[in-house]
Formats: sequence, C-alpha cells, structure tokens
Amino acid sequence: MNIDILTVLPELLESPFNHSILKRAREKGLLTIGVHHLRQWAVNEYGQVDDYQYGGGAGMVMMPEPLANAIESLSKERKYDEIIYMTPDGDLLNQRIANSLSLKENLLIICGHYKGIDQRIREQYVTKEISIGDYVLSGGELAAAVLIDAIGRLIPGVLNDETSALFDSFQDNLLAPPVYTRPADFRGAKVPEILLSGDPKKIEDWRSDQSLSRTKERRPDLLKDEE
Ligand code: 6GU
Repeated sequence: MNIDILTVLPELLESPFNHSILKRAREKGLLTIGVHHLRQWAVNEYGQVDDYQYGGGAGMVMMPEPLANAIESLSKERKYDEIIYMTPDGDLLNQRIANSLSLKENLLIICGHYKGIDQRIREQYVTKEISIGDYVLSGGELAAAVLIDAIGRLIPGVLNDETSALFDSFQDNLLAPPVYTRPADFRGAKVPEILLSGDPKKIEDWRSDQSLSRTKERRPDLLKDEE
C-alpha cells in the first residue's frame, strides 16, 4: 500500500510512522508513506495556501488552487483508490472503515487546517471524509496519523500470529478481554486461576465471556448496531 499525505505541517508527521508495527510494515516494503508539503503548490512567492473566507468571519480557509494542483500532480504518479479529507464533520472512524481501507492500494489523505478547505475541493476531488471523534483538533495531521496507524497494522502481512489483529477489540464488535503477565501474585492481587489452568478450551471460553461482559458493561452500543 502507498499512502500520500498533503499537509502544511509535515513536521507533525515525522515520528508516528517510524516506530513499532508501522515501522516494520515500511521495512518489509508493505507500506510506503509520502508526506508532501502543500506549500510546494502555493500560488505565490509568499507560499500562500490559505485566505479569508467569503462572507466574513474569523479563521482562514485553505485555498482551492494549491490543493487542486497538488492532487492533480500526485495523481499523475498514482491512481488513488480514495482521496480522503480528515475533518470533524466526516464519517466517524471505526474498525469497519479501517478494515476496508486496509485492502486498498493507493490512498491520498488531505489534512485541513484553520477553518478547513474550500468546499469545492471536497465536492470535486475528495471521495471520503473521515473524523476520528466528536471533538475538535487544531488540524487533520494527528487524525491522519491515527487513521494510518489503524489501517497500516491491518495490511495483509504486517502482523504475525503473535500480534494478530483477529483478537483486537472491535474486530467482532467486542472489546478485548483483560490480560495479565507475571507475577501471578502482584502485591496480593492474583491472576484469575483459569489462566494458569493450562486448559486452552476453558481459557478461550473465559476470554469470550469476559469480552462479552466487558462490552455489555462498557459499550452496550457495540452490541446493538451491527453496521
Ligand atoms: Cl479528522 N480533524 C480535525 N481537525 N478535528 C477532528 C478530526 C479531524 N476528527 C475529530 N476531530
């Protein structure tokens, strides 16, 4: 998979993909990430990419020309399966969306800043709009990093048996069960007996029960909406 990102703050995206699972995905050649500074496509010598909004009001809007030029120029290199705009009014990211995006080959992600991007770019180029939650971030970069992390670990071949995504929270609309490691007695708090039993069937049943009761208690909404 290749993911290109358009941003006015490339510095914010320097570290998130250089560690742990995403780092390994890139090293294995399963994922390439290109961070592109929108200023390269600025319309004037000042590197301007934003302007006042029509109709008045506080906050700048990202101009259409630099974005259109950037999208068109990057599209000459690759045919994008999706052009994604990160925005708080987009579809709420969930595991189903991450799963489906992890099967694509080429993604372009646009990070907005200020008041967002000119509506015409959303209408003419963007194919998917994604939010990571009902709160406002100062820009789309951290949201893009979240999205790419969620997608990247699902790319076929990235995880091995040990890190398999099959048992993640949300994979069956269920939360993951509690986990324990050594010592078996931590300051008087004991690991549930069953996990020490060595009986794989019992352990699996216990984990399923825990998943279900945890989900009922904490996120009953997950059990209702089979999206
Ligand atoms: Cl994708 N962008 C911004 N700026 N804020 C957000 C968001 C995205 N998702 C939740 N809040």
